[in-house]
Formats: sequence, C-alpha cells, structure tokens
Amino acid sequence: MLVVTGASGQLGRLVIASLLDSVPAGEIVAAVRDPAKVQDLAARGVQVRQADYDRPDTLAAAFAGADKVLLVSSNAVGQRVPQHRAVIDAAKAAGARLIAYTSLLHADTSPLPLAAEHKETEALLHASGVPFVLLRNGWYTENYLGAVEPALQHGALLGGAGTGRIASAARADYAAAAAAVLAARDDQAGKVYELAGDDAYTLAELAAEIARQSGRSLAYRDLPRHEYKAVLLQIGLPEGLAELVSGSDAGAAQGGLFDDGRQLSKLIGRPTTPLAASVATALE
Ligand SMILES: NC(=O)c1ccc[n+]([C@@H]2O[C@H](COP(=O)([O-])OP(=O)(O)OC[C@H]3O[C@@H](n4cnc5c(N)ncnc54)[C@H](OP(=O)(O)O)[C@@H]3O)[C@@H](O)[C@H]2O)c1
Repeated sequence: MLVVTGASGQLGRLVIASLLDSVPAGEIVAAVRDPAKVQDLAARGVQVRQADYDRPDTLAAAFAGADKVLLVSSNAVGQRVPQHRAVIDAAKAAGARLIAYTSLLHADTSPLPLAAEHKETEALLHASGVPFVLLRNGWYTENYLGAVEPALQHGALLGGAGTGRIASAARADYAAAAAAVLAARDDQAGKVYELAGDDAYTLAELAAEIARQSGRSLAYRDLPRHEYKAVLLQIGLPEGLAELVSGSDAGAAQGGLFDDGRQLSKLIGRPTTPLAASVATALE
C-alpha cells in the first residue's frame, strides 16, 4: 500500500497520476484533508482516506496497512513542524517501512528561510527510526509563471535574485520522481536526492525568454531585498508571504536554488521540462 499525503494538492495529484501508470489503483491511498476534493480519484479506484495533519486522530486510520508513505510537505508555512511530526509518528505507529519526504534542495545548507522547517523535519525523520528517503525538491518553474502576464503589462519583471542561477523544473517532473521512488523495487531507505532542473537560468534570462516568445519587450529589474518586499506588500501580498518570496529570492541570489547534479532527470529517465516549454504554456 502506497500512501500519498496532500493528494488533493497540485503536486500530490500529479504524483498519484504518475503512480497510476505503474501501480494498481487499489494499492494507492490518497490521504487528504477533504475527501470531497478527490472524488475523481475515488472513481478511478484509488483509496481515499481522510488525513488532516492538524488532527492526529485521523492519521492512524489513514495510514493503516501502509507500506510506504509519501509525506508531501504542508503548505502551512510556520506550522509545518508539528504537522509533519504527527505524520511521521502515525506512519511509524502504522508500521510503514519507508517514509519519503518532499524537502527543499540542499535543505541542510540552504540560505532560503524556508529551509528551517525542512531541516527540522529531516531531523525528526532521523530521530524516528523509520527508514526514510529525502526528495529535496528545487524550485517549481510554475512559481514564476503567474508573474508572466503582469510583468508583460508593466514591461518589467521584478525580483531580488540578482545573478543567482535557478535550476527549476516543472512540478510534474518532481511528481514523477516521487512516484518513481515510491514505486521502486530497490531499497530507497537512506537516499538523499537533490532534485533540480537540467538547466539553470537567471531571472534576467527568464525575462529574456518571455520577451522572445511573446514578441514584447520585457526587462528584469533587480531590487534589494527590502525594496522587493515593499513592492510585494504594495501589490497586496500578506506580510508573511512577502517576507517568504523576497527571502527566497535573496537565497537564490546566494545560489540556494542552483544545482547541476541532474539527479532529477536520472531518476525520471527523461530530461526535465525546459524553461522554454513552461514559458510557452504560460503564454498560451
Ligand atoms: N519547491 C517549490 O517550488 C514549492 C513551491 C510551493 C510549495 N512547495 C511545497 O511543496 C508542497 C506541495 O506543493 P503543491 O504545489 O502541491 O502545494 P499545494 O497545491 O498548495 O498543496 C498543498 C497540499 O497540502 C495539503 N494540506 C495543507 N494543510 C493540510 C492539513 N492540515 N492536513 C492535510 N493536508 C493539508 C493541502 O490540502 P487541501 O487541498 O485540503 O488544502 C494540499 O493538498 C507544498 O505544500 C509546499 O510545502 C514547494
């Protein structure tokens, strides 16, 4: 039995879709906070079970009979350590023989503020005694795609990543990797995958690619961290999110989102989705 948490989310859904290529639906559990969101998966024969990270009582039943559990990190930044602890405890109590965790690229040394909760979760996994594998995911290319239209409207892509190179990949690439690790017949325990795109770019190069494909003029404007945060607040982002986005760019400026090990494409057996393809999708 392969259990995927966060299966109603964007990554979780893609993991389940990828698993369905090689695993019978009845051996897959979509563990979700709200089962109503994944009725389509139930219709395909996937077992849907309620699993709320904030309600440990739901987790015991959700993980019953679990061989392997994919813990998709929660999106509740700031509350993730107790949430992830509850999942790890429940997986252990259920006798799972492997936990796979979606961490952050180079979580142990990353300058990104987001790394702290991932590092703490990795420490919890070490302490749990349950065999585990780390899927240290780099940036999703999709993180930038929402900015394409507004940037084109204003003729400027704003950011704070300087000349930091970003080896992003599509969510679907990371999902395929998670599915490959979950479905693998060989022992994945103890492995640490640093997952990133095959190619890296600066935000200036991202702007140039958007300009090239759209035929419109677009320049990248790099801002100091506090100025970028002020712009994000001005356009309506809440304080916490503005801090997170500007802090992530500051981390990227220090190389925190770069990796050239190509472990992701090796794991999925194909090249990662090129930036140009993701930009083309955003411009459709
Ligand atoms: N590498 C990157 O660039 C990047 C970017 C963004 C996020 N992330 C991380 O990767 C994770 C997956 O990404 P994503 O794009 O799939 O995010 P997403 O679409 O926001 O999905 C997050 C999932 O977490 C679930 N969740 C939140 N709180 C929960 C709770 N208390 N109990 C159970 N489930 C809960 C959500 O359930 P509901 O459907 O019920 O809300 C949803 O299924 C994120 O959660 C975040 O930790 C990484």
